[in-house]
Amino acid sequence: MLEARSLTKYYGALPALRDASFAARPGQILGYLGPNGSGKSTTVRMLVGLLAPSSGDVLWQGRSIFDDLPAFQRQLGYVPEEPHLYTHLTAPEYLRLVGGLRDLDDSALDRKIERLLDLLGLADDQYSTLSAFSKGMRQKVLIAAALLHDPSVIILDEPFSGLDVGAALMLRAVVRGLAEAGRTVLMSSHVIEVVEQLCTEVVILSEGRVVAHDRVDRLRQLQHDESLEHVFVKLAVHHDVHAAARSMIEAVRG
Ligand SMILES: Nc1ncnc2c1ncn2[C@@H]1O[C@H](COP(=O)(O)OP(=O)(O)OP(=O)(O)O)[C@@H](O)[C@H]1O
Ligand SMILES: [Mg+2]
Repeated sequence: MLEARSLTKYYGALPALRDASFAARPGQILGYLGPNGSGKSTTVRMLVGLLAPSSGDVLWQGRSIFDDLPAFQRQLGYVPEEPHLYTHLTAPEYLRLVGGLRDLDDSALDRKIERLLDLLGLADDQYSTLSAFSKGMRQKVLIAAALLHDPSVIILDEPFSGLDVGAALMLRAVVRGLAEAGRTVLMSSHVIEVVEQLCTEVVILSEGRVVAHDRVDRLRQLQHDESLEHVFVKLAVHHDVHAAARSMIEAVRG
């Protein structure tokens, strides 16, 4: 089980996340929702051990991940929000580098990379450097890199960003399949429809605080609402979207 316990992060005086507690269990896909700037990526960076909490802790199997970060990170697959890739490498070179860092066996790794690139529709691009890859193609490489070592805990920060329809449908099925195989998954996304279909539970953040944490069907029941989108707007969007749109058109038109 992956557990956030009273996680708090201040950037200087700015509280980006305050007292967030939740857990994701094996077999579960936990959706992590919130408006822009609400603290999702800040949380994710602490959950994967890249950012030290100001207070609170992250526990994996009951132990703080910060006690033995390398041991935790060996079991972790992480798709970051921003693609930090070595763009002078080709996709197979990059994945070989990642696999090597993960101590994967060379020949098995090469076969795995070939299969993954083929499944992701990147086989024909294997000789191009990543600098020539489109946004969606880079995202596919990041996803392959995160899953290469069959991690037990999978943390995805807006993983659908830039993916085409086919790739997004495939990623949904892959995430569902990995959860069914007992992996623990936490996923931030702005695509409410995907979250609604895929996630067993959701955490909703607003301005750095958890404002809801429940099963999707229970959240709908509690809020007497028919869609997760409406629940989200009620709990996390504190302005009239249509009035703001009218004002924006006025501003643009002068
Ligand atoms: N490195 C940083 N230094 C200072 N402030 C930061 C830093 N990273 C994020 N913040 C601030 O922390 C808050 C939360 O940012 P965060 O990136 O966690 O939001 P998010 O929910 O992931 O947003 P988005 O949906 O746009 O990805 C924002 O107010 C942001 O300006
Ligand atoms: Mg973010």
